[in-house]
Amino acid sequence: MLPAQQSGCNGRADAPHRMMTVTVLGLESSCDDTAAAVVRGTSGKARILSSVVHGQDALHAGYGGVVPEIAARAHAEKLDLCVMRALAEAGVTLGDLDAVAVTAGPGLIGGVLAGVMCAKGICAATGLPLIGVNHLAGHALTPRLTDEVAWPYLVLLVSGGHCQFLIARGHDDFTRLGGTIDDAPGEAFDKVARLLGLPQPGGPAVESEARKGDPARFAFPRPLLDRPGCDLSFSGLKTALLRQRDLIVREKGGITRQDRADLCAGFQQAVADVLAEKSRRALAHYTALAPAAPIMAVAGGVAANGVIRAALKEACAGAGVEFLAPPLALCTDNAAMIAYAGIERHLAGAHDDMTLSARPRWPLDGRAPPMLGSGRKGARA
Ligand code: KG4
Ligand code: ZN
Repeated sequence: MLPAQQSGCNGRADAPHRMMTVTVLGLESSCDDTAAAVVRGTSGKARILSSVVHGQDALHAGYGGVVPEIAARAHAEKLDLCVMRALAEAGVTLGDLDAVAVTAGPGLIGGVLAGVMCAKGICAATGLPLIGVNHLAGHALTPRLTDEVAWPYLVLLVSGGHCQFLIARGHDDFTRLGGTIDDAPGEAFDKVARLLGLPQPGGPAVESEARKGDPARFAFPRPLLDRPGCDLSFSGLKTALLRQRDLIVREKGGITRQDRADLCAGFQQAVADVLAEKSRRALAHYTALAPAAPIMAVAGGVAANGVIRAALKEACAGAGVEFLAPPLALCTDNAAMIAYAGIERHLAGAHDDMTLSARPRWPLDGRAPPMLGSGRKGARA
């Protein structure tokens, strides 16, 4: 075990050797999943020893969305249990660890605080180094964990809380090419499901309905395609669907199963078209860097959608870029990605101390202009 390193927030002192093998415990509690994981390895080559995720869907089901206070309490109750399970499943003890990494933002502040306090407690008791990880960096670094991808690569985060294109050049070096200016796509899927009387989470329900529908029956808009750049918008699309639904109800007195399927198919196709076109633009920026082995990866729950996945794959093929979709369990919120980001930071000597604070907002690319809005699933970066 390495000695505790109190080098100050983001310090670069006492960096272990870059290629050293280390074992890191990761904690995640920024939204509605309480998670702990143990990952062992080095920069660009690591193995997940355990990954425990305790979801809170049932707790929030009656409210139509995540209730921050309920989420925070549930995290505080379950974090230590998840840590014990993660250690047991990995077959390690606290004494086998080299560091503890924890999501320190962005996210719902009560949940993030619960994770940060739990990690501080472990570090105070053991002397292990504490590492605060940006949740978005966890998602963005996942292709290095799952596929040992080399820098630079392009990543699209597309979930219920996030939507942005990033070029990853290093564990702490991200360039945001664009992102949503209002809703995240998963959030739009969830709202559409609610408007059509489908269950939550809305994405899988809308996708399943869409299989029976005609994507061409309704002419839904393709927001922001008329503007240059990689920014996206999904809230107008949801409003267009609401208007279309109300029009059918006015004309026919209600909507049939076929109407609902056609609405879902049209909405889904519009999201896929927008994501694919904006991906083409992001790919143009990325390929201009002339990477040796060009790769675009996707992360987030919406990556589970077959039509969207196919559209992204086609956009990549057109640009001569390999498309990577990590397994869904590592696309959605988990602590293995936080532990892996912790490995990268630990090996770079980027440790924190007991002054580490929980941040509701934390942009990955500090140079990019701030994004608008604060989604249903928490604050955006
Ligand atoms: O990454 P995730 O588990 O949580 C965060 O939002 O961080 O993503 C959940 C989101 C939900 O909004 C859900 O409706 C959406 O991903 N989703 C899908 C599909 N499966 C999950 N959206 C479209 N199609 C799907 N098959
Ligand atoms: Zn996330």
